[in-house]
Amino acid sequence: QAPPVRRICCIGAGYVGGPTCSVIALNCPDITVHIADINAARIAAWNSDPDPVTGELVNLPVYEPGLAEVVKKCRGRNLFFTTDIEKAIEEADLVFVSVNTPTKKSGMGKGFAADLHYVEASTRLIASVSSSSKIIVEKSTVPCRTAASMRTILEANARPGLHFDILSNPEFLAEGTAVQDLQNPDRVLIGSLKTKEGELAARRLKDVYAHWVPREKVYTTGLWSSELSKLAANALLAQRISSINAMAAICEATGADVQEVAHACGLDKRIGPNFLKASVGFGGSCFQKDILNLVYLSESLNLPQVADYWKQVITMNEYSKSRFAQKVVSTLFNTITAKKVAVLGFAFKKNTGDTRESAAISLCRYFRQENAFVAIYDPKVPEAQIWLDLTEPGVVDDTKQVKEQVTIHKSVQSACKDAEAVVIATEWDEFKTLDWEAIYASMKKPAFVFDGRAIVDPKKLRQVGFKVHTVGQGP
Ligand code: NAD
Ligand code: UGA
Repeated sequence: QAPPVRRICCIGAGYVGGPTCSVIALNCPDITVHIADINAARIAAWNSDPDPVTGELVNLPVYEPGLAEVVKKCRGRNLFFTTDIEKAIEEADLVFVSVNTPTKKSGMGKGFAADLHYVEASTRLIASVSSSSKIIVEKSTVPCRTAASMRTILEANARPGLHFDILSNPEFLAEGTAVQDLQNPDRVLIGSLKTKEGELAARRLKDVYAHWVPREKVYTTGLWSSELSKLAANALLAQRISSINAMAAICEATGADVQEVAHACGLDKRIGPNFLKASVGFGGSCFQKDILNLVYLSESLNLPQVADYWKQVITMNEYSKSRFAQKVVSTLFNTITAKKVAVLGFAFKKNTGDTRESAAISLCRYFRQENAFVAIYDPKVPEAQIWLDLTEPGVVDDTKQVKEQVTIHKSVQSACKDAEAVVIATEWDEFKTLDWEAIYASMKKPAFVFDGRAIVDPKKLRQVGFKVHTVGQGP
């Protein structure tokens, strides 16, 4: 009989730790969940007061549809956000390690390998503060065999007599649909050592998920398969986008329509319709990072052909972004110097305020280098974040120059006023129902729309008077 988990600690209150453990708290009222972080401002935001008028939690550090309601329901009941990481670990039976694992910026593996020092620091902290045995769960995305390093660190540093089981339980949620994905996951993956203790620990974690996830959806594997499956899933997903974006380039040159091509291909059950939406390029904190990680792993294993294969997915993504930006310049008579370009959307996808690796950042940088004035509107990304993304604090002090060229707007209409071109960079739903007549009337002529997400009807826009370029559609 596996003793039930009663107290969970999650180290890392970010985009994964916050939503994941809030949803655990929602579904498991018998479990007390503490989400802990070294970032005091982030914890304060998780603990922020509701809006006095609407009663809604509007200042949480992560925007996700439905998340504020979950937090409101559980916070103070069985869900707590804290900076007292030691206490939260000490009291827990099970600890999720959900810290960031960014690409290394210097040293060995620079630009490819995952920086595991946050994972290691968390592991060392667990070893030093624990006075009881615990299950330690890798929630962060990590290279294959990281669990072995965690075990070695724990065994070398923990008090004698304590036992730690290490599980891999990668997270597959997508931002913008995190709550939905967590409430109804396609699968939950748990990797463990194939020992009696390892399998018992996996059963205990499975029992946590079984509060709301059908047991047959919980797939248990060995540790290394579980760790690698996470990198593999992201690589396969990103590869589909690069594949369809490669087709988009062919479509634009031939007059084929990538949406028709994607639909025709997706009707084949073996291919399937999802994740074949041509775009200005994929963004987000993970696809690029995880593929780079896979490339590094392949190279370290002396598999250069495998490394080259996956590297191409990123090369194609960079090409998609620059190809789109170049299209804007070439269409605007080969110069955008001193022209106003309105960029609609700055988040890396709709329904999130996250801008990490957003294609919009690359586009705005490109337009700036071409000496354009860039007018940005996004419904969820805070202004300060946009400035942070477009300047390079600590590298060069270019804030003044950026502010001379970039403006941030509170409405689409204001961003588009006097612009020569509108660029749709994020597929926010509100961009599908804009008053294009009014936008057209306020713009310089000829007025151009470059739809990097293929969300507006080009025929309707042409009727209004716009000259339109849609990603993946030939002339
Ligand atoms: P994030 O940067 O939003 O959050 C990580 C948090 O960990 C930060 O708040 C940071 O302050 C905290 N942290 C770092 N070291 C700490 C320590 N020693 N003690 C306490 N807190 C510490 O990152 P994220 O987007 O939540 O991603 C976390 C992991 O999950 C990454 O490995 C990522 O690849 C993976 N992942 C992310 C997503 C996603 O959609 N963002 C989805 C699946 C998996
Ligand atoms: C992705 C995966 O979908 C998740 O399963 C995974 O857990 C997560 O990465 C992670 O490990 O971080 P996420 O990056 O949040 O999730 O969002 P996606 O929906 O995958 O979109 C990623 C990027 O691809 C976005 O810029 C999106 O606009 C773009 N995209 C997506 C396309 O260009 N075309 C598509 O058909 C789908």
